Amino acid sequence: MILKEPIFCRKPVYEVRAGLKEPVKVALTGDWHVSYIVSKKQRKLMAERLREIRPDVIILQGDLFDTPKSFLDSTLTAELKKTLELCAKIAPTVMVLGNHDQLLARHGSPKTHSDFLSRVWPGAVSEWRKICRETGVKLLIDDWFEVKGLRIFGFYQDAETYYLAPGATVRMEDFKRMKRAIKELASEDMLKPEEGKVHWFAAHAPIGELYRMKELRSFDVFSFGHTHGGCVPIGLDVLEDLCGGHWGLIAPFKRLFPARFMRGREIVNGKASYIVNTGMVMTQECAPKPLQYLNFLKAAEVTEVVVR
Ligand SMILES: [Fe+2]
Ligand SMILES: [Fe+2]
Repeated sequence: MILKEPIFCRKPVYEVRAGLKEPVKVALTGDWHVSYIVSKKQRKLMAERLREIRPDVIILQGDLFDTPKSFLDSTLTAELKKTLELCAKIAPTVMVLGNHDQLLARHGSPKTHSDFLSRVWPGAVSEWRKICRETGVKLLIDDWFEVKGLRIFGFYQDAETYYLAPGATVRMEDFKRMKRAIKELASEDMLKPEEGKVHWFAAHAPIGELYRMKELRSFDVFSFGHTHGGCVPIGLDVLEDLCGGHWGLIAPFKRLFPARFMRGREIVNGKASYIVNTGMVMTQECAPKPLQYLNFLKAAEVTEVVVR
């Protein structure tokens, strides 16, 4: 099965006023889900949009492979590398790992679409380190990258096992590990606001609790991917944090909940931009009717953020 070709790419543009001497243009993309069921056309659209933006830095929000087992498949690995190299040629590129970048397809073959009831592939992180070195992309695992005063901190959400019932487990995003990493960086004074510097937080799944952490209160931007269609509104994200999953799937039709905070930008902590990029996969145009009306099947997008 291959999904239908996408026909357009949304182009949201946001401005963040944070006190930088000169503006920095950031492009956000991710959720490529490179696999046999996803058309290459969406990455072509992405490349066109990235060239149009001419960013100072590109942030890849994770889920670039549909399953890391695709590292064993030379065609898919070559495709992924080509796309990463293309980004790195356009601008310095950083990435965070998504849940799909670590989860192993349940049924074993790289041709199988992965799912959330999968196991973690132990070799995933070292494979990603290798591929990032080869393609000139900086992998941010509790680390940061600075461009013209903009400090982008990227964090790793590993998958944690949740027990649904005896013998039934599901792996979700692990917030506890990331929280520890944030507190550790804070204890080394690495997250302290500094004159002329702007702090940007990047991770894969939008977890509401993050922006409420006191260590991150001074951050000006939080950016995420993962939900494809957008996440649940503020308030309900607390419930979602409790159950451990952060899916766009539970906000269907963009009508079940108020429209705000589904995707795009929201202001949190009184001044910070909380931006959710829907990524390049599972676009409305790709899906057959009536699936295209579902919230997780929204148009592909590359988000442009101008930080001043
Ligand atoms: Fe994804
Ligand atoms: Fe994801």
